[in-house]
Amino acid sequence: MLRKEQTVGGAGLDWGKLVFGTRVDTHGFIKHVWRDGQWDEGEMVEEPYVKMHVLANVFHYGQAIFEGQKAFHCKDGKVRIFNDRMNHVRMSRGAERMGMPTMPAEMFQAALTRVVKANLDFVPPYGSGASLYLRPFMVGSGPQLGLGASSEYTFMVVASPVGPYYGSAVPATVVEDYDRAAPMGVGAVKCAGNYAADIVPAARAKKQGFPICLYLDAKEHRYVEEFSTSNFVAITKSNVYLTPDSQSVLDSVTNSCLEKLAADMGLTVERRRIDFDAEVASFKEVGAVGTGVVITVVQSIQQGDKVHNFEQPSEVLTKLYNKLRAIQTGDEPDPHGWMREV
Ligand code: COI
Repeated sequence: MLRKEQTVGGAGLDWGKLVFGTRVDTHGFIKHVWRDGQWDEGEMVEEPYVKMHVLANVFHYGQAIFEGQKAFHCKDGKVRIFNDRMNHVRMSRGAERMGMPTMPAEMFQAALTRVVKANLDFVPPYGSGASLYLRPFMVGSGPQLGLGASSEYTFMVVASPVGPYYGSAVPATVVEDYDRAAPMGVGAVKCAGNYAADIVPAARAKKQGFPICLYLDAKEHRYVEEFSTSNFVAITKSNVYLTPDSQSVLDSVTNSCLEKLAADMGLTVERRRIDFDAEVASFKEVGAVGTGVVITVVQSIQQGDKVHNFEQPSEVLTKLYNKLRAIQTGDEPDPHGWMREV
C-alpha cells in the first residue's frame, strides 16, 4: 500500500499498489477565477499550492463545494470521463444553495478535459483497476470579515490517480450520538462541512474496527440516511434495489446510474424512507455507493449490541459493480451515453 508517491511522471507508478489517498504530485491543476460576475479563461497551475487572502470567505465562513469524478483508460486506448454532465448539474444546485456562482456546463467540462489532458500519463492503464480521480471544487476566495457572499470565487480541478477506497467488504456501525445533516440543512449539497462533520465519528468508529459509519435521520433517528462518504443501497430478498428518499442525503451520481443499471437488469428500483429497526434485518445485501467507493459491500451493520449480517458474497451488488466498471473501462457498451472522450 502506497501512502506517498513522487514520480517525474505517472509512468513510474505502481498502479496496483495505489489506494484512495496515496499522494501523487501530478503535472498541475486548472484554476478559474470569478470576479465582477464573470469567470476568467482559466489557467494551468503547476505547483500544488494556491495563494489566497487570509480573509478569504472559505477560511472563515466555509463557502466550499466540490465534486468527485473519475477518468478511465478504456479498452480502445481512449480516455473517457464518467458522467460529468450529472456532476455539473449537482454542483450548480449546490452553488445556488450556498450563494455561489454557477458556470456553464461547457466551462466545467472543458476544465476537466484540460486537467486530464495535462496529466495523461497519470491516467492508470486499462486493466490496472485504478483510475484518475478528478476533484472539481469551488471556494469563496474574496477577502471579507463580515458574513456574506464572497466578492470572488475560485474554481479548481485537481487530478490524482487512485486505487480502491476500502478495498474489500466492510463492517459498518450506526452513529448514535452525532448527526450528519439537519432535515432542512445542507445535507444534499456536496459542501466541505458535511464531510468535516464525519471526521470525529469516523475516526472513533475506525478505532472500534468499523471503517464506515451509517447515519440515521437527525429528527427521529429512525430512518436510514447516508454512510460516511457515500449513499446507502440495499438489495431486498425480493431483489428490489432500495435507497433512501431524504432531502438531506447527497444526490449521488453513482447511485442514480446504478438505479438505471438495476432497472436494466430487471430489478425493481425504489427510493423511499427506510425504517432502520423495522427493515434492516431483512435485507439480503447492503452497499455503500459513490465515486470514491464505487460499490463497497457492507458485510454487517452494528447498532449498540445488535449486529445485522448480510449475504456474502453479495451477488446482486457484485453484478452491478461489474456492469458499471465494464461500462467505465469500455469492456461493454455504454447504453446511457455516460462516457465522454477527452
Ligand atoms: C467521492 O466519493 O468522490 C467523494 O467525494 C467522497 C470523498 C470523501 C472521497
